[in-house]
Amino acid sequence: MRNKVIAGNWKMNKDVHQTEDLINGLKNALDFELKNVTVVVCPPFTSLETAVRLIKGTPMLLGAQNMYFEDEGAFTGEVSAKMLQAVGCQYVILGHSERRQLFRETDDFINKKVKKALAAGIIPIVCVGETLEEREKNITHQIVSSQVKGVLKDVSASDTERVIIAYEPVWAIGTGRNATPQQAEEVHLLIRELISVLYGPATAERLIIQYGGSVKPDNAGDLLAQPDIDGALVGGACLKADSFAAIIKAAIL
Ligand code: PGA
Repeated sequence: MRNKVIAGNWKMNKDVHQTEDLINGLKNALDFELKNVTVVVCPPFTSLETAVRLIKGTPMLLGAQNMYFEDEGAFTGEVSAKMLQAVGCQYVILGHSERRQLFRETDDFINKKVKKALAAGIIPIVCVGETLEEREKNITHQIVSSQVKGVLKDVSASDTERVIIAYEPVWAIGTGRNATPQQAEEVHLLIRELISVLYGPATAERLIIQYGGSVKPDNAGDLLAQPDIDGALVGGACLKADSFAAIIKAAIL
């Protein structure tokens, strides 16, 4: 049985003061046993240190939302895997569709970051997913398969087991329009079968595949009940302690 991993992608929200409020709210709201659920909070870089201090002694783990693949040097505005590790990050979101669309990140570029994160002992949560246009053209499978192959290029089977893939259909992100559990399950199964072909069934069986895109307390239970949905990457609904806690609860039941 795979653990469920519920990660909150705060995006560019919450300054340090608001971070304190949200983490303290989460500490109060998470008043139940997490059992087989891993909870990850991914605040902006400026809040990582505050967050790590506040989650100490709780089951929450820390993730970042991006990083660069070089260790150090003249890369203005970037942050390295080593820096994330030093502050206490165990996870990093890579290749989010907002980074792909707004900052022109490609599979090849994301692949370099995936390898660097793994080498630094940080678990990459790597996002893939089709646009509405691609879904309507019936090329979802080709798009997602080529993204998965691209971001995992030259990653070994044992390293792939440490990767989390987040299937996030672009049309479902921030739109309030989630993929149905069946639509999501179909793509999750496709990803698992592809990993099985590339790396073998044991690796495919262990791979955590999250769903992301308008996950809310009222749809989380149905999505997370699908056999190949192993967690959620939550945007909007993770910004309030109560709704994030309700999604976490749905992963347990
Ligand atoms: P959303 O965002 O839950 O607000 O749709 C999800 C994501 O972008 O990771």
